[in-house]
Amino acid sequence: MTDNNLYQEYKQLCETINYHNYLYNTLDQPIISDFDYDQLFNRLKEIEKNHPDWVTADSPSQRVGSAPLDRFVKVNHPAPILSLSNGFGSQETIDWYQRILKLDPRVAKADFVLEPKLDGLTVVLHYHAGQFALGATRGDGLVGEDITENLKTLRSLPLRIPVDKTLHMPEEIVVRGEAIIFKTDFEKLNAELASKGEKLYLNPRNTAAGSLRQLDSSVTAGRPLKLFIYQILQSSDPIPETQLGILEYLAKLGFPVTPLRWHADSIEEVITICEAAGVERHNWNYDADGLVIKINDQDLYRSLGAVGKDPRGALAYKYPGVEVETALTDIQVNVGRTGVLTPLAILEPVNISGVIVKQATLHNFDFIKEKDIRIGDRVLVKRAGEVIPYIIASLPEKRDGSQLPFSAPPCCPSCGAEIEKDPDQVAYYCVNASCPAQLTRTIENFASRGAMDIDGLGSQIVIQLVDNQLIHSAADLYALTKAQLLTLDKFGDKKADNLLQAIEASKQNPLFRLIIGLGIRGVGEVAARKLAEKFKNLDALKLSGFDDLRTVEGVGPNIAQSILDWLRQIQNQNLMENLRQYGVWPVVETKIEADQPLKLKGLTFVITGTLPNLSRDQAAELIRENGGTVSGSVSKKTSYLLMGADAGSKYAKALELGVPVIDENTLYDMLK
Ligand code: IVH
Repeated sequence: MTDNNLYQEYKQLCETINYHNYLYNTLDQPIISDFDYDQLFNRLKEIEKNHPDWVTADSPSQRVGSAPLDRFVKVNHPAPILSLSNGFGSQETIDWYQRILKLDPRVAKADFVLEPKLDGLTVVLHYHAGQFALGATRGDGLVGEDITENLKTLRSLPLRIPVDKTLHMPEEIVVRGEAIIFKTDFEKLNAELASKGEKLYLNPRNTAAGSLRQLDSSVTAGRPLKLFIYQILQSSDPIPETQLGILEYLAKLGFPVTPLRWHADSIEEVITICEAAGVERHNWNYDADGLVIKINDQDLYRSLGAVGKDPRGALAYKYPGVEVETALTDIQVNVGRTGVLTPLAILEPVNISGVIVKQATLHNFDFIKEKDIRIGDRVLVKRAGEVIPYIIASLPEKRDGSQLPFSAPPCCPSCGAEIEKDPDQVAYYCVNASCPAQLTRTIENFASRGAMDIDGLGSQIVIQLVDNQLIHSAADLYALTKAQLLTLDKFGDKKADNLLQAIEASKQNPLFRLIIGLGIRGVGEVAARKLAEKFKNLDALKLSGFDDLRTVEGVGPNIAQSILDWLRQIQNQNLMENLRQYGVWPVVETKIEADQPLKLKGLTFVITGTLPNLSRDQAAELIRENGGTVSGSVSKKTSYLLMGADAGSKYAKALELGVPVIDENTLYDMLK
């Protein structure tokens, strides 16, 4: 056979196998036996072994995983990945409907689409010229992580989709969906592990999420992940004007879409469907803790806008969680960041729909009294989706006389200081501003992933630092020395160096992260981003008044007051001064584009290999600051491949597509 004929055969084989993959994995309707499929696949591998240069990214053999990564690259999403607000039960659903009806009278005539609320990991998939080019996690909704290699191993993910202008098959499209594990696949996976005497997975959701966040994609390839796509985030072509139309269109492009969906003409019909599906859902092959109700008409959906991260035009109808009985072995009292004392139930560990629950909240001390909950009681615990489990009731009929009543402690369990009851609320507070438990929570919040993201500064280390009086505020973190860290339990050279490095690196965080880290009551990510955008630095925020604060989107009167209260406190003023001294003083730069054109505007870069000076994150940041875009994989749209030592397959891809390759110095030249 000539090479040319063999090449034709090879291309044909790729097509055929991809088609059978689609029939089997996306439509669940195979037409050939597993044996015949394996024959085709073996032939493909044989040809590829002799002609490695023929292998392209969409070959079915590319789904087996590639060389492990050392870390995930960050990816900007083309549009914010919004979340959903929850409605528990029918009444909250009707309340939602009334709210949006008030905003727009068109809601009265609206129809709805309902889909199962899949419980897995959100993924964002980019296609360029019909090729799967990039896949990312949700991350914080604006920036996710590049998990392209892992996603390629999902057999229901199309590596190629049709492109045809006349049929509105788009050249560029970004879609969103959920990667999940079916119940039957999960049971099979666990049965295999059990037969090998290995540790079992707890539930499909965590297993799905964990499987996709692997640096080694061959691990992902071994996990039975499925995919359902339900949203188009961006497209180069017009997209259908209804959610039902979008689902059909996505299916036409070859994406797996949920076969389970409902259409309702009124809110009454919506509720009937939700209630009926509440019973039915136990027969589905995946976990769904609710249904997603969506306004079908996209124009109306869009014009309703969003509250924070939740679009108004959709609602997650959540089913009540599962209740289980267990023993309450103790009640601990936790001191929160603001000094509030919360009772925590310590439970005999119990499995609630795949999650081992050892603790549950008891809300407040009045609740314990009202419900007559005693230490040693049998109690009912409930867990609804991702919400923290809570105690519903005790079972007094099961008492044997050994149970002990509980009352609020006379003083703070952490520092022994006086306790005050808030007259308007049920909460008790520790009034000691330097209470170590409060400080611990404050530092935990400061270092957390959503705030200053200090890797390696977990709860246990924070407790050690506070107990040993090495820190008295978040600013003290920046004065820690290696010698101090080495005096702590389980601290060696490497661990101390890593922590100090992570603390130092956190100085580069943008202002909104620092604002989240300050822990002002009511200021979450959305408000922090808006505050940073408006005030640009902490000096301006310090000078703000109630009215200034109220002009910030998402800052209502309570949050504005809470910010002012926070700023007024002397220890917080000291904290800010100390942060400034240590160089933790991020400023939002205002770029005046007309004077200083952004040098990399309109250019898309892919970064690969180890650069001589910059980390990949730093290089990406530099590119973005100068108006460029950073993408995770090379396509025809890539302007430059920025390459360092030990580059991998991206280099080959750039050569194949004729994408220019540059080094770090050339990047600096471009910025001059
Ligand atoms: S629509 C802006 N549809 O549930 C539109 N989300 O609790 C919002 N989810 O973050 C998403 N199944 O990851 C939508 N059929 C479905 C879904 C779904 C699961 C997830 C999604 C979202 C989360 C919100």
